[in-house]
Amino acid sequence: MEDNILRIAIDGPSGAGKSTIAKIVAEKMGVDYIDTGAMYRAIGLKMLTEGVGQDDGSEDARKEVLDRTDIDFDGGIVTLDGKDVSGSIRTPEISKAASDYSRFPEVREKLVAIQREIGHRKSVVMDGRDIGTNVFTDAQYKFFLTATPEERARRRVKELIEKGQDVNYEDTLEDIKQRDYNDTHRKLNPLRKADDAVEIDTTDMTIEEVAGAILDVIAGRKKA
Ligand code: DC
Repeated sequence: MEDNILRIAIDGPSGAGKSTIAKIVAEKMGVDYIDTGAMYRAIGLKMLTEGVGQDDGSEDARKEVLDRTDIDFDGGIVTLDGKDVSGSIRTPEISKAASDYSRFPEVREKLVAIQREIGHRKSVVMDGRDIGTNVFTDAQYKFFLTATPEERARRRVKELIEKGQDVNYEDTLEDIKQRDYNDTHRKLNPLRKADDAVEIDTTDMTIEEVAGAILDVIAGRKKA
């Protein structure tokens, strides 16, 4: 790498613990954490608010909305047109919209450009679906976190109930399976493990164990 910037990519399906782990790793490494899923969620929120469709015929409308959409992620906060939307993007409706609209090339092009710009400016731990395979193929460290859909649904239910939302396990499991399908089957930069990523199955691991395993690899204590 031609600069001194550290880029750590953490990819995986929804509910695998990426953001919790990425935050811990970023803090320990003294670098910024960038949640790219939050950016796709902000786009989903904007598209729903503007009432823009998902059919081929709505491509121009999507582009027009994107042209006047400003997204940033700084200090753990995602902003949409200058407003902190971190709270309003964590609903099942926005999860689905983020997954749905993320398949459009115009959406990905815009967000990937922002993500690359951030990662060229400063060291980051970036989590998402295509960080190791597309956004930063040259990241020094790449991790791919997985867990069974059932375990991921259990974690998501616990998290949403703690936030006071009314959710049930069956619906959440269905949502997770649907999003897995969407994320792995879209044409452009689908979710997949980079050949050089370290895969960690977190199903039976605690948060501390997963963060520890990642920090061990980074510290060179374990061979990648
Ligand atoms: O990580 P998350 O659940 O907040 O992500 C929401 C959706 O955004 C996810 O279902 C797919 C999309 N996404 C993406 O396509 N690429 C990324 N790098 C991150 C998220």
